[in-house]
Amino acid sequence: MNLLIKNIKQLVAVRSDGKPYKSGTEMRNLGIIEHATVLIQKGLFSWIGPSAEFSQAVDDDIDVIDASDFVALPGFVDSHTHTVFAGSRENEFAMRTEGKTYQEIAEAGGGILSTVRATRVASKKELKKLARHHLDAMLRQGTTTVEIKSGYGLNEDAEIKILHTINELAEESLMDIVPTFLGAHAIPHEFKGNPDDYVDLICKRMLPYIAKHKMAKFCDAFCEQEYFSVEQCRKIFETAKLLGFGIKIHADQLSQIGASKLAIEVGAISADHLEQIDDAGISALKHSEIIATVLPCVSFFLHCGYPPARKIIDAGIPLAIASNFNPGSCMSYSMPLMMTIACTQMSLTPEEAICATTINGAAALGLSSILGSIEVGKQADIILYNVPDYRYLIYHFGTNHVAKVIKHGTYLEF
Ligand code: NIG
Repeated sequence: MNLLIKNIKQLVAVRSDGKPYKSGTEMRNLGIIEHATVLIQKGLFSWIGPSAEFSQAVDDDIDVIDASDFVALPGFVDSHTHTVFAGSRENEFAMRTEGKTYQEIAEAGGGILSTVRATRVASKKELKKLARHHLDAMLRQGTTTVEIKSGYGLNEDAEIKILHTINELAEESLMDIVPTFLGAHAIPHEFKGNPDDYVDLICKRMLPYIAKHKMAKFCDAFCEQEYFSVEQCRKIFETAKLLGFGIKIHADQLSQIGASKLAIEVGAISADHLEQIDDAGISALKHSEIIATVLPCVSFFLHCGYPPARKIIDAGIPLAIASNFNPGSCMSYSMPLMMTIACTQMSLTPEEAICATTINGAAALGLSSILGSIEVGKQADIILYNVPDYRYLIYHFGTNHVAKVIKHGTYLEF
């Protein structure tokens, strides 16, 4: 299907000129075109430029959108979510308002393991219905690509059930969905006291099965005190790499145990969280190809410190922002909200925040050669917003400014 979007008031292309990501000061250059036209053919961008320069003959029956009232951006790429789960944890949210911490709640039987209990007893059909509702809402808010982790099953049957759910959603959904295996999300209660046996189960049974059935692109682990040690994560990642998985890691979230250094050692594509990363960790990341992925909602939602995103960008490291949508530490998938928090609490500029939620999010999933920016030859994922200027999207927060969503060249009517 072909589509002409003409007279776009302002086009934020996030052009990267074939580079996989933007680092440091490059993040401020968005390749903005005022009064732009975009031609989409066979689901890909085929012409992009100032409207005054568009002279190509187009078929009479081509669909045309007059975008003179709209600002256009690439679809958001949310590179870190836990979208498949059952139940909810508003009780924990209320406990935190009374001063309990995330760790205290987990020690009292809440936290990840409480969602594991609800998710284990839910059927695949129920999980799909719940997740589909979230995915529809994401798409309406401008997210066109999303990574989804397992990790609320923590036994063979339940982890496989979640991965089946993610893969079936990927088949059926208009969005691009990237599955990640996060069996090492918490120590399940059956293995309390002998976590090494659970690590063995992951390495000897879960990972080989998931690899054989091609159920996940990445393997992730929560490398943290009381969760999985550096040694245990190293064992999981070495096994996963031999089986062909890419590596992602929950690093330096609650404490500093050397997780970001492990990310470099195992060649992870991204190190995510980084609330507690120190200067040595930042300078180590600087000499790697890793995307530093920060999750602004976690600090906002859990009342804890923000990651040093400003320092990370100033060190020249490519930074991505993701929602980390999950029932415990971020019950939101609004990427504009993530950008607003990043700008107000982490000193990012609006331009850096946009780059971090588009091309750099795509790079964190190994997809930046095909999506994440508005460039000729890339997949046509483009969102039109009813705003006067791209910065308005971040400034006027808490409402949905999306006017039209075009995914892979298809205009979606909601
Ligand atoms: O990324 N850190 C581990 N996982 C999630 C929290 C999941 C939960 O609390 O259910 C996170 O914050």
